[in-house]
Amino acid sequence: MTERPVGMLDSGLGGISVLAQALRDLPREDYVYFGDTANIPYGDKDPSEVMRLTRLGVDKLMAHGCKAIVIACNTATSVAAEQLRKELSIPVIGIEPALKPASLLPGEGQILVLATQVTLRLPKFHALMARYGDNAVPVPCSGLMECVESGLLEGEKVNDLLKGYLAPYLDKPVKAVVLGCTHYPFLRKAISSLLPEGTPLVDGNAGTVRQLGRRLAEEDLLAPAGHTGGNVIFLTSSRDPATLRRMQSMLETAQARL
Ligand code: DGL
Repeated sequence: MTERPVGMLDSGLGGISVLAQALRDLPREDYVYFGDTANIPYGDKDPSEVMRLTRLGVDKLMAHGCKAIVIACNTATSVAAEQLRKELSIPVIGIEPALKPASLLPGEGQILVLATQVTLRLPKFHALMARYGDNAVPVPCSGLMECVESGLLEGEKVNDLLKGYLAPYLDKPVKAVVLGCTHYPFLRKAISSLLPEGTPLVDGNAGTVRQLGRRLAEEDLLAPAGHTGGNVIFLTSSRDPATLRRMQSMLETAQARL
């Protein structure tokens, strides 16, 4: 048992959707969250650059004494998780597009997997497609994370972008939409509004936090009973002092809406 915090990182604000889930499901833990805001987006970058940036983020979290690392970013997980697991002596938990749970849902039709170019291009996703992707359609969504970063969670610009990505598939039944980037849960309302009522939107946040809990338990790293927990320290590579306030307010949005 240890009171040391759990570290989480993402290219920016997206991983805060995972952080909100972790605060809900593992409330006794404390968290340090690093958003690499100065280097957004990861999803259009060369994987070697994403690897380099992810390592820098992990170093910052390690310097805070984190007992486990959650890569709260599908893109960085695809690029870096396997390698970091070999290098680090603490648990490294990643997130992947929730295609497996989506494929297990009842019903017929396509499963649209919204994610970044890098996530959809790398072998990790191809392996997922080979197992669970019978009716899945990968849909790379450049530009959506920038909307979330600038606080645009609904409205005309977001809708126009989303329509461009979704419209080509809406003439056939859609069984589910996978939110394969941690920024996209913030766009749930906008995405739902363009789909037939009741279409499930599936993200990997709860599964990732369950895996975090399992790994902490296995390594005897859970916070001890009696530890209050729920403290969050935000870190960012951005020099703009407003970024830390935006992170805090995104956490409040996630806690209120997701
Ligand atoms: N939030 C990230 C993900 O889950 C990436 C967004 C980006 O930086 O392009 O893939």
